[in-house]
Amino acid sequence: MFGLPTLRRVAQEIGCDVAAARDRDPAARGVGTAEILSSWAGVQALLAHRVAHALYETGLPLAPRTIAFASRAVTGVEIHPAARIGADFFIDHGSGVVIGETAEIGDRVTLYQGVTLGGTGFARGKRHPTLEDEVTVGSGAKLLGPVTVGRGAKVGANTVVIEDVPANSTVVGNPGHPVRVEGRRPEGPDADWIHLPDPVADAIKALSERLGSLERRIGELDGRGAEGELKELRPKRGPSSAGG
Ligand SMILES: CC(C)(COP(=O)(O)OP(=O)(O)OC[C@H]1O[C@@H](n2cnc3c(N)ncnc32)[C@H](O)[C@@H]1OP(=O)(O)O)[C@@H](O)C(=O)NCCC(=O)NCCS
Repeated sequence: MFGLPTLRRVAQEIGCDVAAARDRDPAARGVGTAEILSSWAGVQALLAHRVAHALYETGLPLAPRTIAFASRAVTGVEIHPAARIGADFFIDHGSGVVIGETAEIGDRVTLYQGVTLGGTGFARGKRHPTLEDEVTVGSGAKLLGPVTVGRGAKVGANTVVIEDVPANSTVVGNPGHPVRVEGRRPEGPDADWIHLPDPVADAIKALSERLGSLERRIGELDGRGAEGELKELRPKRGPSSAGG
């Protein structure tokens, strides 16, 4: 039942969550607990979730969903009352965060605004992501399906994660792929997702070069020199739109 031990646990979790905001949001340093509770949307959403989840676990109908609904209306953060969230959790800014029913979040996890921990279809059972301890997920990232994000991993802003993420790695892009594992660039034939060989561009470049040399040869034969000018093809430089 919803007794004194549950209240004590919820109070402890709230204390940890306020401390997490102070620890991970530079803007919250030196700010009093009352001010954080009254104006940090991510902290308010979490506070509401702690209560909704405790009620949900007692089997009480209606109230958990009503709290979650009211919290979403006020904070813009939607957390299903069944979602499991560990200690020291922090949502920075809050707005647009969605955490699905079977999502599981470890300790000391940080989410930025616009993160989705969502499902991929209408399947029942475990269908939302699991985030292990000390994971950071950047703004706008979408993590879809029952994927596991390993301990200490970082998910870059706007990344779309559809596969498991190794511990202590950084994943970016769509689809999300590791660009750092244990602080080092991944090695191997599949490691560079951005500068992949392009056989079609290579074939066009070869044809263009051949056409240019034929035109020069014809120009020499009839004594007029090369006519027209073929623009030389150069490999594209600069950052790829695919990220990375
Ligand atoms: C991913 C992130 C956490 C950095 O992690 P990191 O392990 O320190 O990684 P690095 O900065 O060394 O970047 C690794 C590579 O990924 C690239 N990268 C980093 N973030 C990226 C992103 N969001 N999308 C695409 N590529 C990204 C870097 O350019 C770098 O590329 P390189 O290997 O070609 O040099 C950070 O870039 C990020 O996205 N943080 C989210 C912050 C946020 O949401 N803030 C909102 C505040 S309101």
